[in-house]
Amino acid sequence: MTAPFLSPPQLKSFQKRLLEWFRAYKRDLPWRANRDPYRVWVAEVMLQQTRIAAVLPYYERFLKRLPDVASLASAPIAEVLKLWSGLGYYSRARNLHRAAKEIVAHRNGKFPRTLDETLELPGIGAYTAAAVLSIAYDVPLGVLDGNVARVLARLHAMRGQLREPRRWRELANIAQEWVACDPPGDWNQALMELGEVICTPQIPRCEICPVSKWCRAYKLGLTAKIPAPRVKRASKPVKIAAAILRDRRGRTILVKDPGAHDQVLFSRMWQFPAVEVARDPRAELEKHLRTTLGIASVDLQELPSARHGVTFRNITLLPFLAHIGQLPKLPRTRILSLENLSQVPISNATRKIAAALSRAPAH
Ligand code: ADE
Repeated sequence: MTAPFLSPPQLKSFQKRLLEWFRAYKRDLPWRANRDPYRVWVAEVMLQQTRIAAVLPYYERFLKRLPDVASLASAPIAEVLKLWSGLGYYSRARNLHRAAKEIVAHRNGKFPRTLDETLELPGIGAYTAAAVLSIAYDVPLGVLDGNVARVLARLHAMRGQLREPRRWRELANIAQEWVACDPPGDWNQALMELGEVICTPQIPRCEICPVSKWCRAYKLGLTAKIPAPRVKRASKPVKIAAAILRDRRGRTILVKDPGAHDQVLFSRMWQFPAVEVARDPRAELEKHLRTTLGIASVDLQELPSARHGVTFRNITLLPFLAHIGQLPKLPRTRILSLENLSQVPISNATRKIAAALSRAPAH
């Protein structure tokens, strides 16, 4: 355990200074308009794994269409996924929807006020629970995400991998000790904000940092070395061949394929018929079309490939185009205009495959 490096009066001045800075400079973000737990919750879920700038348009659209927990609970999942389409990590949307149903069915439509009850909701872990409860209800729970961890590690000049369980626990303890500060939601957001706008990963802006005088990494000239770079898991190369089957009216077929790859890549949404391939993508895709859709002898034209990174996978998408007289009508398939794929929920991988059509020479 790192020894507490601030005496109680020092900690007080540090907290006072950071909160003053936050109140003066905090960004005018839409989830800060009020403390409605639903608005805070949706924001915190969208902000996991996604940058603020990318979240903003989705957030506004989502809340316009589903302004409260009751409207989310009664919306069809297809609509929720459509509103999420493009943000990625779709299990977040599915869990949000399931949790909203639970809140309406069992909690009188009110977001819970205690940590234990909150953690029972699907998709809500320690971070989301602490963020929502502290911001919406002033519950003194310290948040720890990547930004906050970096800030705390630099302040303490903590060496080594922050994600190692022992260090992460230590950081969580510090976050919890320091949140005893009024109001806890502002305190948590001040740490996040500092991490996002000043104490950034590559080139922190220490010269304008409000709390540099309390920062050990700054004092020791170690800000570029802390946090230690994450050791990345080797990414596994995967090749997915996908077929854009087009009829004379410019329509195509999308499927819901419960195959192994679709969980991550297509997120159980509508997708082009696709299969993981090894040596001979064209032949393997032909076989897939024959066995799953009963389509024999298609002339598959290769389109430009696209890269797609999903967590630790390094995916190459190999799109093919085939003209086809009659698209098959089968369960768990949709026939729709290629121009209009966004009528149904699709993932970014599916968008990339469709985009290969416009990148291809005349076809
Ligand atoms: N990142 C995650 N949650 C945030 C919040 N409430 N404010 C600013 N950045 C965030």
